[in-house]
Amino acid sequence: MNNKVTVSAPGKLLLLGEHSVIYGYPSLVTAMDARVYVKAQKTDENSDRIIAPQVKDTRFVEKALVFFKEKYQLSSSVCVTTRSDFSHNVGLGSSSAVTVASFKALSVLFEKNLTNKEIFNLSYQLTIHIQGVGSGFDIAAAVWGGVLYYIYGGKTIDPVVTSALPLVVGYCGFKADTPTLVKKVRSTYQKSRLATDKIFKEITQLVEKGKKYLMMNDYSHLGNIMTQNHKLLQKLNVSTPKLDRMVEKAVSAGAFGAKLSGAGGGDCMIALVGAVNRKKVEQAIVNAGGEIIQVQNNAPGVRVEQ
Ligand code: MEV
Repeated sequence: MNNKVTVSAPGKLLLLGEHSVIYGYPSLVTAMDARVYVKAQKTDENSDRIIAPQVKDTRFVEKALVFFKEKYQLSSSVCVTTRSDFSHNVGLGSSSAVTVASFKALSVLFEKNLTNKEIFNLSYQLTIHIQGVGSGFDIAAAVWGGVLYYIYGGKTIDPVVTSALPLVVGYCGFKADTPTLVKKVRSTYQKSRLATDKIFKEITQLVEKGKKYLMMNDYSHLGNIMTQNHKLLQKLNVSTPKLDRMVEKAVSAGAFGAKLSGAGGGDCMIALVGAVNRKKVEQAIVNAGGEIIQVQNNAPGVRVEQ
């Protein structure tokens, strides 16, 4: 039996369906090849140790250890070391990736053979415990990878068979505060339920159509759907002038379509672009003040590295 293991889990980006996913509507998410690595090692020390220099909030690892050790009545001490291919500031889902990788690492280390669904359930429970809100789409992406058609709380987690999308990812330079934005949309929803629900339903139609175009590799139509989704997110008041500018410039420079990805208020936008216009679109995003993040999508889910 090994006394140490290294596991990695991918980051994520939402392709379609942010915010409405919180209300039980579907979304499309893809896992990114920017990964978070967790090394877990049994030690003789009398308490657990966490070395996580790049992680902003170590509670996700701390609580994963507590949850797991309580569940299995374990007393051994564990040293957990994390590292990440990406900054926690960009909104690629470092918390969900580190949580999923931690549970998987502990499962392997203590030979508990947790299934993907069990890892999802534990990670989702922990995230709600810490953050209070969240649909869990980011956790599903970290567990299963690929592209997923996802409904709140893991009610539906369907892999979508497709090739990697020709996406350009632009970071707007500041971090989104997801719980605050989710609460902002909640308050809009409470004030004008019908109008907000109408927007959610329109987003849902885009998700359904987008899934179809995605499976057909029809990027021209899919791009158009993404831009429409961005306009609906503007109506929900979660975009920012900078994200809007990055999206507009990307489309003017020849992207099939573009949108903010995630809660809004910061983080990243994505543009769907053919090879011919890729450089032009990247430059347009940079000219709008964005930073290009070189990442591939449709990446594999959580896995043991050694
Ligand atoms: C944030 O990345 C996406 C939201 O839909 C929140 C969530 O689904 O957890 C706003």
